Amino acid sequence: HTVDWEAEQTGKSGYDHFMLKEIHEQPTALRQCLSGRLDPLEGEVVVDELTNLDTPERVQFVACGTSYHAALYGAHRFREAGIPAQAFLASEYSTAAPPIGDGELVIGVTQSGETADTLSALRTAQGHGAKTLAVTNVVGSTAARECDHVMFIRSGPEIGVAATKTFSSQLVSLSLLVESVAPDVSGSRTRDLVDSLRNLAGNVQSVLDDAEDINELVDEVAGSDAYFFIGRGYNAPVALEGALKFKEITYEHAEGFPAGELKHGPLALISEDTPVFAIVTGDDAAARKSLGNIKEVQARGAPVIAVTDGVLEVERFSDSLLRIPKMEGPMSSLLANVQLQLVAYEMAAHLDRPIDKPRNLAKSVTVE
Ligand code: G6P
Repeated sequence: HTVDWEAEQTGKSGYDHFMLKEIHEQPTALRQCLSGRLDPLEGEVVVDELTNLDTPERVQFVACGTSYHAALYGAHRFREAGIPAQAFLASEYSTAAPPIGDGELVIGVTQSGETADTLSALRTAQGHGAKTLAVTNVVGSTAARECDHVMFIRSGPEIGVAATKTFSSQLVSLSLLVESVAPDVSGSRTRDLVDSLRNLAGNVQSVLDDAEDINELVDEVAGSDAYFFIGRGYNAPVALEGALKFKEITYEHAEGFPAGELKHGPLALISEDTPVFAIVTGDDAAARKSLGNIKEVQARGAPVIAVTDGVLEVERFSDSLLRIPKMEGPMSSLLANVQLQLVAYEMAAHLDRPIDKPRNLAKSVTVE
């Protein structure tokens, strides 16, 4: 037993769980993902695997679970770059497959490359004549072999059932993908991204280094009826992912919503016993509207925990703050997500859950 224990501890490099180790591996994983893919002098993105991929007319994403949240983010980025794009849950795709137009690209986002629903959706798309691209972590996986194109996210192996570092690497990979295939009409979009990606790993590291407030927060809110997560724009997928991570490993009831949907139902559940994690970054229209949503839930007595870069006066309307470094544009969502990974982890540790192997869940779901 001693030997097994030591082997396991070595695998975890001194961390209590693989999940925590993988959360802390994110700066390295992101550097690996970016390695050789940025040209800071020219302000360009070069992804070797994608040099043969033409600009698509339209994009459909198919994915499950955490990868679906990355797909929502990717679709948003494509639309901003002027290419119509939509994310589908892979399990729903085949029952009513959307029409495939000329120049359609169907992108399967799948860490393992083995998720049955995602493979099935990709096969459906191929059957309808679509070109397919796998965005995956696993070289030689089924998705990598079956798709016309493949882009590797280069996270390194992920053992914890709850996906963490692979999600961050997916967000970055999809951002690189957009810059690789979508013409940069403004002329500065790619350059801005390259600049911001160069600071990303360091900013993730500072989120990890400044995490001491989280324990206190977890003590305060543990035992609540339910936990809600809200965000808009790029932060909407992060709200969904924050809630998914939380429910997967804490077994507490958690739901994520695009912030604007609150008033169409979820507001009925808001009370003093439902802490709301509100992700508000930057100072664009989405952030200002989110501030309005914070006021709505606070007026109903819910404790508000803002995950914010502090650009807007979010502090005045929040009960607690989880601060992230300020970053231009969509990368701040990635930082907010790292913060929420730590919240889920600390709550699960507080409740003594089996963090790396939550009940009823599997790392890779190979049945439809
Ligand atoms: C399972 C895992 C999730 C993962 C999902 C999709 O449900 O527990 O963490 O997000 O599968 O996996 P994939 O390998 O396709 O990204």
